[in-house]
Amino acid sequence: MNNTMKLGVNIDHVAVLREARRVNDPDILQALYVACANGADQITIHLREDRRHIQDMDAKNIIAHSSVPVNLECSINKNILDIVTNLKPHRATLVPEKREEVTTEGGLDVFGYEDELAYAIELLHDYVIPVSLFVDPSIEAMEKSKQLGAEMVELHTGTFANLFAMLNSSLPYSNHSVQELELPRNELSSRLEKSIEDIKLAAIHAHSLGLEVAAGHGLNYHNVAHIMDIKEIIELNIGQSIIARSVFSGLADAIKEMKRLTSR
Ligand code: PXP
Repeated sequence: MNNTMKLGVNIDHVAVLREARRVNDPDILQALYVACANGADQITIHLREDRRHIQDMDAKNIIAHSSVPVNLECSINKNILDIVTNLKPHRATLVPEKREEVTTEGGLDVFGYEDELAYAIELLHDYVIPVSLFVDPSIEAMEKSKQLGAEMVELHTGTFANLFAMLNSSLPYSNHSVQELELPRNELSSRLEKSIEDIKLAAIHAHSLGLEVAAGHGLNYHNVAHIMDIKEIIELNIGQSIIARSVFSGLADAIKEMKRLTSR
């Protein structure tokens, strides 16, 4: 088994900051160059339907100038898929998208949108773009992803990350406490253990089906060690925590430190 871990650096949040002022500062291409020069094995961006951060021109320029593969996250919206097939990224990761959400809150509904996903995967394959599906870590979702023809799955680690943060960080004492997880510590601990087990079992199953396995969402400098223990996972896509740390330490150091923590 290939046991090395690839670090996909998600630079969307550099564009979030830029869009807050509608200027070209910080410059997303500078972020790309710094990421490539400091250990990113892949650049991940999400071209959202509402274009709240990455714009079409960003995606085009990033794909043209990146020295590492570009993983383009997108929904199954027809207009978006047309743009993606034109852009020809190294891989497309299909994600669910709701306009009102702050971030991608859960995995794809691979059962509810089976036909739409099958269509999107076939279309992307027609343009020789490999496809990953962003899914919740369940055995059923792995089976369905394989059946739909994806090459890869990215396991949504949001439940794990929320539980970890409610137990081990200041989150419960902030405005952004996860209310449904305001629970006794022993309950949080047992749910955390189960969430890690779910990710592990899903990764093992996906691997046994011949799918490549990535993971992402909410991973940070404190929690990533748990995911590193799962050898079937060969790629992590991490954004928020790296860009947040770069405010204090600079992007280069933030990536180098994450790379150190995610090297096998
Ligand atoms: N992977 C996917 C598919 C995503 O949609 C995102 C952004 O939500 C990430 C990884 C990165 O998540 P985060 O910014 O929480 O590290």
